[in-house]
Amino acid sequence: MSYLSHFFRDVYEGTRMATEEDLPGIRKLIYPLEESGVLVRRTDKELLEALYSFYVVERDGSVIACAALFPFPEDKSGEVAAIAVSEECRGRGLGDKLLDYIEKEALSLGLGRLFLLTTRTADWFVRRGFSECSIESIPEQRRKRINLSRGSKYYIKQLQPKHAGVPVNNFAGR
Ligand SMILES: CC(C)(COP(=O)(O)OP(=O)(O)OC[C@H]1O[C@@H](n2cnc3c(N)ncnc32)[C@H](O)[C@@H]1OP(=O)(O)O)[C@@H](O)C(=O)NCCC(=O)NCCS
Repeated sequence: MSYLSHFFRDVYEGTRMATEEDLPGIRKLIYPLEESGVLVRRTDKELLEALYSFYVVERDGSVIACAALFPFPEDKSGEVAAIAVSEECRGRGLGDKLLDYIEKEALSLGLGRLFLLTTRTADWFVRRGFSECSIESIPEQRRKRINLSRGSKYYIKQLQPKHAGVPVNNFAGR
């Protein structure tokens, strides 16, 4: 087995909810993307407040990918945000698997669809089952906070319950 196939033999390995210790790693991952305008800028305080909605992939003690899932239970939907894979690890399906993991987590929380706002990564999400939608499809509570000047487009995906139950919902201890 090659080093790489060993490295990626279980792509869920190391995928878990974030803890405070992951804060520097997440910051390092998203900072350049905030600088280039791909991701919305978050202050350290905002990031800390959102931390328990983040999932990370950790390899050899480093955060190599992250994504956030913000649930809107009253709308039975959730927002995927800040998905990022470190540059050295891109193009190996890690983003794909992290999104898959988020979808399973969303289903385990009883959410029926995921939505997101993006300015530049639409094609990647469309290839993963998302379709463009109007702003009216975004939960009202979230709509009020949209920074319209970013000119984001909105995408939505209905989740298939066949995913339910896998992987483990590791909310224990939160
Ligand atoms: C988007 C991102 C998370 C994908 O992670 P990844 O691990 O490289 O993704 P995968 O390996 O599962 O998929 C790679 C495929 O997506 C394509 N892809 C990568 N970035 C893309 C983009 N911005 N738009 C469209 N396709 C993209 C690659 O060309 C590759 O295509 P291929 O399979 O035909 O070769 C990663 O490129 C990233 O961190 N980008 C910067 C942050 C970002 O744009 N986040 C989304 C904000 S809304």
